[in-house]
Amino acid sequence: MKKVFFGLFDSKKLAAQLCRMLNGELAEFTLRQFPDQETYLRIESSLEGKECIVACSLNQPDSKILPLFYLCRLCKQLNASRVVLIAPYLSYMRQDIQFHPGEAVTSELFAQLLSEMVDELITIDPHLHRKHSMSQLYSIPCIVLHASGLISTYISDHISNPLIVGPDSESEQWVSQVAFSAGAPYLTLEKVRKGDMDVEISAPEIAEYKGHTPVLVDDIISTARTMIGTVRHIHEAGLKPPVIIGVHAIFAGNAYQELQQAIVADIVTCDTISHISNKISIANLIASNIRQE
Ligand code: R5P
Repeated sequence: MKKVFFGLFDSKKLAAQLCRMLNGELAEFTLRQFPDQETYLRIESSLEGKECIVACSLNQPDSKILPLFYLCRLCKQLNASRVVLIAPYLSYMRQDIQFHPGEAVTSELFAQLLSEMVDELITIDPHLHRKHSMSQLYSIPCIVLHASGLISTYISDHISNPLIVGPDSESEQWVSQVAFSAGAPYLTLEKVRKGDMDVEISAPEIAEYKGHTPVLVDDIISTARTMIGTVRHIHEAGLKPPVIIGVHAIFAGNAYQELQQAIVADIVTCDTISHISNKISIANLIASNIRQE
């Protein structure tokens, strides 16, 4: 039986790509806001006994979660056999402990909510911070995919003599993978975040790599303070202008423009979140991990 694909918000293109790749059926549905901002939803496709694949990247999650909830519930009410959520970017991964008494541990609450809405979750490089696996948060099966292979291929195809640079010790997990597959050297710097908009980067041994093209790789670019701090450091060490590669292009506020104004050769992101900097497609990676029966 054909799978039925839904694309919500900026994930419509991804749903259409997956649908084409897997010879599925694109859902006919209407999702819109009434003038008072309440949601109207109608699904016209027949879902009886079919598996629904819902693509909805969860950047800016607060405005998406309620329409997504309505859609997933309606799929079940229309007798879909299963609902699989494809959230290439998964939000609410960082507030995973209480830093101060009375704070909401939103990672857990958000995970509980999604676990009640869908039967399976497929995501890319979730920011597992202090948790070691998705099962510590989610009670549904989660397929976690990694963009490191796609990033390595991009680097091998487009950048000569690269030096892969991670902005902090946490980035070593994906930077080392990317460097290994691209056959390039790598190093990770030291980052101290003093506030949302205040990041200090240090890199003792970086000046040895003057002949290389630095390629800064990180999972999330949000305020871009981490990348801008790293770019500044690289510039001061006399290295070439770096290529910036991020998996998830959040770019809060003016972050993209500010990063463009730093001395960078290029800014490249995966299309887990739709953005002008998207140059690496994740559609094939996801398609090859959707269960076939
Ligand atoms: C941090 O733990 C992440 O890997 C990124 O380095 C961080 O999210 C980037 O944030 P920003 O762009 O706001 O500096």
